[in-house]
Amino acid sequence: MMFFAQGWIQCESTVCQQWLAAKHRLRWAVIRRLLPCPVLARHAECSFLLSEDDSGGWPCNQLIDLSVHAIQEARHIDLTPISARMAGRFSYPDSLINVWPGEHYRLLAGLCRTLVPDVVVEIGTGEGLSALSMLASLPPSAKLVTFDVIPWHRYPRVCFLPEDFQGGRLKQITGDLSNEKFFATQAELLSQAELLFLDAPKDGCFEPRFLSLLRNLKRERTTVLVLDDIRQLNMLKVWRELALPRLDMTSFGHFTGTGLALLAVESGG
Ligand SMILES: C[S@@+](CC[C@H](N)C(=O)[O-])C[C@H]1O[C@@H](n2cnc3c(N)ncnc32)[C@H](O)[C@@H]1O
Repeated sequence: MMFFAQGWIQCESTVCQQWLAAKHRLRWAVIRRLLPCPVLARHAECSFLLSEDDSGGWPCNQLIDLSVHAIQEARHIDLTPISARMAGRFSYPDSLINVWPGEHYRLLAGLCRTLVPDVVVEIGTGEGLSALSMLASLPPSAKLVTFDVIPWHRYPRVCFLPEDFQGGRLKQITGDLSNEKFFATQAELLSQAELLFLDAPKDGCFEPRFLSLLRNLKRERTTVLVLDDIRQLNMLKVWRELALPRLDMTSFGHFTGTGLALLAVESGG
């Protein structure tokens, strides 16, 4: 009976998640129709400009210092070897990975060079561009664990090679970290991450659930959280309500919005 009830709750929550995501997509599709882009651009998104004084987060010197260092590092990082992996498989030029500011890949690499972390976690493996960008700037002893719901070798246009996963520096785990049970199986790893890059579905459901689980986790190390697309309509609420020390780094990251936040050791649990 207990087993049946748990199964039902889980099934109901998945249906609810899908329904909310569909509602979210529809709402923003309508808004986009009503607000056509007034200029020509390869990629355009609409957003809102929001006051900062009444937002959920607050500024932090530690993040400002970290960002200044990471920006200095990013200026000298060259990701051309990764653009060779892209080999014309995207609708945009291979050189895009080296565009900075505007894209976030060099900033992610700059953060790795500045933090010199032992453990990096990424959520949203996708084509592997962000993982490959970070990996090249991590010390040989560091490990990068990337999560997705789709195994990397089945992902369209993936840029990984099987040898990227040899030697133990890079590992992929498949699963949904907004699911409480799966999250619990990965709690130890997540508590050790010094850098956590969140680049998952941005569907209005995953991020609030995952962040709530993450914030309740007792951490072994301070975690620098990097959120992609914080200025996209779907992510405005998540970023605005994130009650943590934080910094909007969009001018030195991804044009769709890059946010940094700090999860201190003592803040979880
Ligand atoms: C924007 S893509 C990631 C791009 C990637 N970081 C890169 O640079 O190539 C978003 C990814 O989130 C994954 N995703 C969707 N739902 C997820 C979930 N619940 N948990 C983890 N990943 C998820 C998608 O399969 C997709 O690969």
